[in-house]
Amino acid sequence: MKTKFIKAWIALLVIELGMAPCSAQQFLDTFKPGQAWLDDQDNAINAHGGGILYHQGVYYWYGEYKQGGTTLPSWATWECYRTDVVGISCYSSTDLLNWHYEGIVLAAEPTDSLHDLHPSQVVERPKVIYNESTGQFIMWMHIDSADYTKASCGVAVSVSPTGPFRYLGSFRPLGHMSRDQTLFVDDDGQAYQICSSDDNATLHIHPLSADYLTPTLTCIPIFERWYREAPAVFKYDGKYYLLTSGCSGWDPNKADMAVADSIQGPWTSLGNPCVGPNAEITFNAQSTFVLQVAGGPSKFVAMFDRWVKTDLPSSRYVWLPLTFSDGCPQIRWHDMWNLTDFR
Ligand code: GAL
Repeated sequence: MKTKFIKAWIALLVIELGMAPCSAQQFLDTFKPGQAWLDDQDNAINAHGGGILYHQGVYYWYGEYKQGGTTLPSWATWECYRTDVVGISCYSSTDLLNWHYEGIVLAAEPTDSLHDLHPSQVVERPKVIYNESTGQFIMWMHIDSADYTKASCGVAVSVSPTGPFRYLGSFRPLGHMSRDQTLFVDDDGQAYQICSSDDNATLHIHPLSADYLTPTLTCIPIFERWYREAPAVFKYDGKYYLLTSGCSGWDPNKADMAVADSIQGPWTSLGNPCVGPNAEITFNAQSTFVLQVAGGPSKFVAMFDRWVKTDLPSSRYVWLPLTFSDGCPQIRWHDMWNLTDFR
């Protein structure tokens, strides 16, 4: 009788105070750049060096799933801090704020020490695009050896945005090195891979085959000997924009925004697009992707990683609105913001 009374009293309290009986997931309505970001199961979002695909009303966020200890190999002559490869994660969302974990969509291959996806290797900066004509989701990623001498790209395919992706293998596009990389699909369906090549000295733009699985015979080198990394490409009002970082490993440096009338170039630097505290070091972060918000032709979100080099799984995300001021893209710091803040 007494237990029954206590239960009824708790139920009443729950209703009165609007408390949920079990731990309810917090609904997010604000981006808080650099702060902890939890998914709808209250786990920290784990999708580093990532990119977004918008498909049939849903955003899919793919990134490096970083778990376990961060180590500096005993042979290291530079700060190539690493975690063992776990795989590429995928999260889904309809509002870009509240994310659901879809799982590891391309998993490591722990039993084959020679495999590109063995935990001892490097798998970074995955990007996924959809091929309308083949109906396949295509992932390109940076594949490397632990000492970063392999400098290749890998390709994987899936018939569903949430995987599983089937790994097809790695190569150097047209024999050239490929490290930090991104993908871009133009309005006419032509896709491009853009990567740091030539020991990171020069960016290469590779137009892809119609099935998006291989590079074509053209390679467009840009910003030769400028040492740019972390490329992110977007298009606005008929012009192409390219956001990059400098080359300082996991440490932040000054970003650059370039513009071109054609993706083939010529590309012109517009300088650093960041405005606000720590703008000279990209708000203590490094670019990974620029996302065009669905339904808003002039709404872009610039996505960055705030790396914690000695504890890479604790790295965070800095997402900021990208706006245009006098025709120039600008990325202004906000402690908090949401999609209604676009002017
Ligand atoms: C950065 C690069 C990262 C990672 C890191 C390793 O320059 O952007 O993706 O490769 O170097 O030090």
